[in-house]
Amino acid sequence: MVIETERLVLRPFVEGDAADVYEYLHEPAVHCFSSMKLHSLEEAVAEMKKRSDETEYYFAIVLKETGKVIGEIEAYPEGDEPHADEDGPKDTFSPCWMLNLNYTGKGYAYEAAHAFFDYLFREKGARRIYAYTEDTNLPSQRLCERLGMRREGLFREFISFIKNPDGTPLYENTYQFAILRKEWRDSVSKEREAK
Ligand SMILES: CC(C)(COP(=O)(O)OP(=O)(O)OC[C@H]1O[C@@H](n2cnc3c(N)ncnc32)[C@H](O)[C@@H]1OP(=O)(O)O)[C@@H](O)C(=O)NCCC(=O)NCCS
Repeated sequence: MVIETERLVLRPFVEGDAADVYEYLHEPAVHCFSSMKLHSLEEAVAEMKKRSDETEYYFAIVLKETGKVIGEIEAYPEGDEPHADEDGPKDTFSPCWMLNLNYTGKGYAYEAAHAFFDYLFREKGARRIYAYTEDTNLPSQRLCERLGMRREGLFREFISFIKNPDGTPLYENTYQFAILRKEWRDSVSKEREAK
């Protein structure tokens, strides 16, 4: 699957993306992605090989002008909540988004996420999209708000990605944002009317 926007192409990863991805994942910008850290270009190549089978839910964000991979976005179908009926619909998605920090502040994440949400709601049966973001991650919270997501709540000391200097888990406070398909439809039609 390939999704095109005004300035970007969202497409599956290929082996040749390794150097661009290594550029932003050799030092993940936020704790929640620390397990994705790539320690070498060789590791990045191996990671790209794994990702190249992912054609529906995991996309490289590519700048049309230069062909450079400037980030990534992904979300997979989930049940409603951890205790949901296993046979129930998998119509809930929780996106992860990440840009090379040299390319933030230009609206690229919004442009990619807007197109990705549209794809999930229209073509992949999404009913609800929710996002977790640490309470200190203001750029990600602003992105959620720009996408029309509601701030649903703050989970205190919700999760730990890294350890404190004394070896104990460092727990972080996490906001949850969400948007339903019907809310997305309303906001997209309002955007169209405004144009
Ligand atoms: C979260 C993240 C993707 C947000 O990226 P971003 O570039 O700030 O987000 P947007 O695409 O919405 O860009 C908005 C900014 O671009 C500016 N901008 C400039 N030109 C623009 C344009 N043509 N269109 C829209 N916005 C534009 C906006 O004014 C806005 O600036 P502001 O945030 O200072 O108000 C990015 O900070 C990131 O990758 N962080 C590290 C990974 C991460 O935290 N992931 C989320 C984990 S929960």
